[in-house]
Amino acid sequence: MRSSSQRLVTTATAPGKTILFGEHAVVYGRPAIAVPVSGRRARVTVADLPAATGIRLVARDLGKRYAGAGGDADDDGRFLQAALALVLGELGVDSAVLDIEVTVESDIPIARGMGSGAAVSAALMRAVAAHLGVALERERLSALVFTTEKMLHGNPSGIDNTTVVYDQPVWFVHGERPEPLSVPGRLTLLIGDTGVPARTRESVAMVKGRHQETPEVLEGCFDAIGEIVYQAREALSSGALEKLGPLMDQNHALLAAIGVSSPELELLVRAARDAGALGAKLSGGGMGGCMIALVDDRQREAVREALQSSGATQVIPTHVSGEVGGSGLQAGQGCYDAR
Ligand code: MEV
Repeated sequence: MRSSSQRLVTTATAPGKTILFGEHAVVYGRPAIAVPVSGRRARVTVADLPAATGIRLVARDLGKRYAGAGGDADDDGRFLQAALALVLGELGVDSAVLDIEVTVESDIPIARGMGSGAAVSAALMRAVAAHLGVALERERLSALVFTTEKMLHGNPSGIDNTTVVYDQPVWFVHGERPEPLSVPGRLTLLIGDTGVPARTRESVAMVKGRHQETPEVLEGCFDAIGEIVYQAREALSSGALEKLGPLMDQNHALLAAIGVSSPELELLVRAARDAGALGAKLSGGGMGGCMIALVDDRQREAVREALQSSGATQVIPTHVSGEVGGSGLQAGQGCYDAR
């Protein structure tokens, strides 16, 4: 039995993500490869409150608090409330019987195409479920997070929720079971932030409009991107990592051709290549947000400096390896916190 001074505290996390190959084309049935950004995570802590307190949602980085079930909220609060309602609905738990504080923190840049919304939603659902004694299985959790992704992005492919929930490199085709990808050795990426919000909803809608106007042109681009993604998978599985850089460059050129690059992204992609990156491309929805550069240890510093001097508001290094990520449940989860 817990004494009155003991509180059950549960913590869960989920990583950010970046798309290596195949964004936008993935919305039209082509494959994509995405990887978690393990060093940047959303972290959600659920703590018991005294009886009859109800549910409190705390968005710590934003300095905001909301009532858990319904009640007045801005867009951020409605998003958290929706994620909470979804997981409670899935578990068949009535929110009226809960007395908990759910605290959300994240160091994943917001609105930069790094899956921050999906990660917050995944960590929140995982933490709440674990607090109630349920380990949500990956596919079930990913499907729930997909529902909140639709709130944010309109018509997403599902790649963001899949990558942050699986927490490992994935081969993703809409409507198919995602395949964890094994990456031989270790790839180093530098993620350059343009400082301009990625408008994923708008970029996906813009590409849809172009697809409706000239389907044959866009389908041709998507086919070419799909072919690049297959070649990248082959390069990854055979260890021919030197092929990845040129494939990233080609993928970027096709994304620019369909209209989702931006002057800021072009500047960073060019700066990275000039400084010796093995390849560089925009990543995610584009029209702002982030780009990625593949580097080896010799050029890493030069590329980082080039990105910074070309206007990157931050440069986030990340390593991709075949290591399978954890469940995102952290030490201390399910523990009794005597404080
Ligand atoms: C967003 O991270 C990637 C896009 O392909 C949209 C999607 O797949 O939902 C642009």
